[in-house]
Amino acid sequence: MERGTAGPGTVAITGAAGSIGAVVRRALRGEVGRLVLLDRVPLEAETANEAVHTVDLLDPTALESALVGVDAVLHLGGIADEAPLPDLLQVNVLGTHHVLEAARRLAIPRVVLAGSNRVAGFYPTAHRTNSQDPVRPDGLYGVSKAAVEALGQLYADKFGLSVLCLRIGSFEEAPSEPRHLATWLSPRDAIGFCRAALTAAPAPGFTTVYAVSANSRRFWELPAPFELAYTPVDNAEDHAAHIPGADVPADPTAAQAGPYARPEFTLKHLRP
Ligand SMILES: NC(=O)c1ccc[n+]([C@@H]2O[C@H](COP(=O)([O-])OP(=O)(O)OC[C@H]3O[C@@H](n4cnc5c(N)ncnc54)[C@H](O)[C@@H]3O)[C@@H](O)[C@H]2O)c1
Repeated sequence: MERGTAGPGTVAITGAAGSIGAVVRRALRGEVGRLVLLDRVPLEAETANEAVHTVDLLDPTALESALVGVDAVLHLGGIADEAPLPDLLQVNVLGTHHVLEAARRLAIPRVVLAGSNRVAGFYPTAHRTNSQDPVRPDGLYGVSKAAVEALGQLYADKFGLSVLCLRIGSFEEAPSEPRHLATWLSPRDAIGFCRAALTAAPAPGFTTVYAVSANSRRFWELPAPFELAYTPVDNAEDHAAHIPGADVPADPTAAQAGPYARPEFTLKHLRP
């Protein structure tokens, strides 16, 4: 799908009211036939080809109704940070199960899942992490995203769905802290990864790839062309002069997750 040309007929975005959803929505609505936007937060259609649904991911019946006639789903809805495990299991894991179930029952050709770099945040910064490396979650949120990937793999292997998971980096307008020099995902590259993932020819199978900008200091492998046909264009290094501490060399033994790997980050969601 090139910019300005007709793409897949109908694309659905869950979590369309969120920070990534809003950006991808604006980019895709001029490119696809119809955009179906779902969130538990009410949205308003802004163009004639947008349809909006106020739906909770925990309501499988309403979710399936909203997805009737859809050609590809971009599943961004969920809890995007550390939280109590019961909440993460409900919204991220069960919610993803409901999306994949709707895709199976409705024979939706393509599902794109929002994974996270935090599924493997305990690798040290000196390690070049590949999406094939075993998971090393840096917290409960990372555990929920490992389950999201496992569900995607299951639905591909068992039911022949075409599922691609994007392990999203740090989605920010601009990088603002030293860790972002490695992990930044620019809005332009987020759109590029999502567009490529949604428009890849739907072949049965599961793929998981990192979605990160072309940062000189990144510690994650970019997708191989056969995995996903998108080459990121932005580089956090171009912003380094404005980032305090950018000139301090990264500790090669420190966790890639940085502060998220600290016990306190998770302990606040556990009983004392
Ligand atoms: N922003 C990042 O840097 C980043 C990094 C890695 C992964 N991700 C993942 O990408 C996805 C989108 O991230 P984001 O930054 O846009 O998050 P966000 O919090 O801005 O948006 C998430 C959206 O999901 C919706 N939502 C939450 N629970 C719901 C429910 N039960 N039913 C229906 N909708 C529900 C929220 O209302 C919200 O609009 C998430 O899955 C997140 O885990 C984001």
